[in-house]
Amino acid sequence: MADPIHFADPFWEDPSGRSAPKKSFEHGRISFAALSSRPIHTADLDIVGQGTIAVKSKTTKTIEITVSTHYSDPMLILRITQKDAVFYKKSGDEEVLTSKAVKNEGSLYIEEVAPDDGTVYWLSIDRSNRILRYGKYYTWNALTLREVELNANSGKWLENLTNVQVKDGSEAPFFTIKPLPVTMDIPPIVVGNEAVSLRQLDLAAVTIWANLPEACRKLYHNIAGPKIALEAEFKELADTIHESVMTEGRFAYKLLRKKCKTPQDWPNTYLRITIGSAQGNSPGIPYVMEIWPPGHKSPIHDHGNACAVIRVLSGSIRCTWYDTLVTGRTPHSLGPPLELKKDMVTWLGDNQYQIHELENKSDRTCVTLQCYAFSKDDKIHKEQFDFLKNGQRMGFTPDSDYTFAKFCEEMEKECPQKTPGLLP
Ligand SMILES: [Fe+2]
Repeated sequence: MADPIHFADPFWEDPSGRSAPKKSFEHGRISFAALSSRPIHTADLDIVGQGTIAVKSKTTKTIEITVSTHYSDPMLILRITQKDAVFYKKSGDEEVLTSKAVKNEGSLYIEEVAPDDGTVYWLSIDRSNRILRYGKYYTWNALTLREVELNANSGKWLENLTNVQVKDGSEAPFFTIKPLPVTMDIPPIVVGNEAVSLRQLDLAAVTIWANLPEACRKLYHNIAGPKIALEAEFKELADTIHESVMTEGRFAYKLLRKKCKTPQDWPNTYLRITIGSAQGNSPGIPYVMEIWPPGHKSPIHDHGNACAVIRVLSGSIRCTWYDTLVTGRTPHSLGPPLELKKDMVTWLGDNQYQIHELENKSDRTCVTLQCYAFSKDDKIHKEQFDFLKNGQRMGFTPDSDYTFAKFCEEMEKECPQKTPGLLP
């Protein structure tokens, strides 16, 4: 039985084998080789000379990832300690490979106090671009901490690397291997193929839906149409929601007040209006219209490793992405926030953009449509989001403040002069 703390970890797999193993475990060779005084966990890269090795560990001392050809020189070694993460090429002696800090970690390379659910440390070997990367938490370029750039000659020895050994001082280090290296991250803004220009592709300003994980692609197609709009109900719906949520005594305001438990929670309160019913493949109901009064925001939270797309239906919302949720640690933002405006769509995958914070910085109520689905590889289906409150990591079960049709009925009552929308 999985411990609940495992559910928040995209790399966790059920050691009992009840959950389907990832491809690397199905095809990789895993054994305990007596190459040192303690067991060493080994496996093979899926593709010779490239891949991402993600180690989940509770150690506070040293992690060593070695990749070689038939366990002989030359070997690539990444040695991570509290103070540093160093890449070596071992051909007899160990030669330090010059690396650069991509960004400041802001804390120790290995945690001084290990979180209960461990920390993910990863090594990416990018054979094509001759780049080695080290990072923490999600296997995502934005989470790269150190990087080695080799050239065509100096990096040629990477091409035949196959065999992976992991040591972290434990009897059985836990790790997974992904076939692809960590390279450029897919942009957070999604558009249809009819909307993308050559310049946008060149600048990687947006991505086309086809580049998203499968679960996101399906969600995108469900909500990208022109009738997925508040105006489709009746033309004044966005204005009515704004007035309703901002005016004492009105329906949405009362709903919001009922939800808010303490005065301090007021700016962190927003409405979740559910659309349809749960289908067993998402945390809570898969389609949720969220209403954000001016100045209101979410906590920094994850999404139970689910995939999601989010479309702005009215107003604008500021989205900031973060690296990890750990009790007692302030999350680091991954770059500047993005202001999402009406009809813009953003996405998140089980390993990408998973942790974010939404905040309405405008003076107009924002309405968004959140859509969730688990990836088909997810055998856990965590029905809970985690968030930080006063530095503590806590769980939140996605719920419903009201259903969509009934909410619209209430809004119609507050707008007797409504103009018919696009719906027949
Ligand atoms: Fe969210």
